[in-house]
Amino acid sequence: MPTERPLRRGSAFRLCLLSAALFLCLQLGVRRSWCPEEKPQGPAAGLGPPRAPPRGPPQPPGRRRVTYVRSGRRRGAEPGCCPPQPPGGPRRKAVRWHIDLQPWASPTPSLTFEALRFLKYISTSQISCERMNLSSLGGDAETTKKPWSVCLDERFGLIHRIRSKQCRLYSLGLGNDDNQFEVSMAKSGCEVHRFDPSIKSAHIQEGRRLWYHRLSVDWRDPNPAIAAHRLHSNTKKLGTILNEFGHQKIDVLKADVESAEWKILENLILEDVIEQIGQLVFEVHIHWPGFEVSGNDSTVVRYWYSLLRELELKDFRLFHTYKDLSKPQMFLKKAAFNASSCYTLSWVNTRWQ
Ligand SMILES: *[C@@H]1O[C@H](CO)[C@@H](O)[C@H](O)[C@H]1NC(C)=O
Ligand SMILES: *[C@@H]1O[C@H](CO)[C@@H](O)[C@H](O)[C@H]1NC(C)=O
Ligand SMILES: *[C@@H]1O[C@H](CO)[C@@H](O)[C@H](O)[C@H]1NC(C)=O
Repeated sequence: MPTERPLRRGSAFRLCLLSAALFLCLQLGVRRSWCPEEKPQGPAAGLGPPRAPPRGPPQPPGRRRVTYVRSGRRRGAEPGCCPPQPPGGPRRKAVRWHIDLQPWASPTPSLTFEALRFLKYISTSQISCERMNLSSLGGDAETTKKPWSVCLDERFGLIHRIRSKQCRLYSLGLGNDDNQFEVSMAKSGCEVHRFDPSIKSAHIQEGRRLWYHRLSVDWRDPNPAIAAHRLHSNTKKLGTILNEFGHQKIDVLKADVESAEWKILENLILEDVIEQIGQLVFEVHIHWPGFEVSGNDSTVVRYWYSLLRELELKDFRLFHTYKDLSKPQMFLKKAAFNASSCYTLSWVNTRWQ
């Protein structure tokens, strides 16, 4: 007897899902006939085990891009019908294949206009931050070599997470040995994970809160077909690492990845991993387009700019920008626009709790 009620509720629920799905199919079918493909077979971030998206030939980003939005079953499509998703269930988020490109900076594409718009953007902070260095926390007052700035203002979550020792830093690097920022974050109470493919063993713990992992973060998981040949190169997407480590949140993501930052950032945006991050501190490189970024110069700059605008759409605000005058003063292989090849940019996720 008591088993009957859950059973009936279960079948009612299934019926309810079925009719919701039918409703959605009919709706989509009116506009496009792609309903049969709406099966859970496309790559979807956060849905089950992560899989590498099928990678077609790299498209020149300049072409007019279609953004494919895979609309999952909508929650609450029929009010009062479907019970809410169980907590901890799979995230149902639209997965996109391409970022939305911003309009050109000028009526006819021109490198000058693109460059001026982009350089102005990365040189202008969007929100003010009063407390930007760890020395203000007391303790070690060592000055870090690079301006890796985090925002410790009370209105953002980081300072509270540091005080309650819940803070977590992920640092992506490529074997450069400057780790002062990581060390001081660990000293101030953060759990620090440094991903560095050049270290000798798979995991090294240094001190109470500082770990090194022999992993490099990429914008795609290795293709399973060729994984056997490259077992030594342990490359993963950040979303995959988060899943494997069982981490929900990263308070600070630092990246100094020599031009891989653009595609990594794109991956974080497209898979919505960005929403799990509180602050971003990225070194960006503009002396060449970056790994797997293609197109003519104006197309490349428009793509960079569009990526940063996507961050803004996700409520990230630039609070610190630093132009590195010690690096070659180059912009897309030329000395132009008084630009440096390298900037360090810090954003805070204003929606971060
Ligand atoms: C660059 O490529 C885009 C798209 O392919 C094209 O519209 C644009 O005219 C090109 N820009 C320049 C300056 O050649
Ligand atoms: C750190 O911040 C304090 C004020 O909050 C400032 O006096 C000091 O110069 C800063 N140090 C560095 C290295 O930026
Ligand atoms: C070029 O950049 C430097 C450093 O940012 C700045 O001090 C200088 O005024 C700039 N020159 C021009 C002509 O804009």
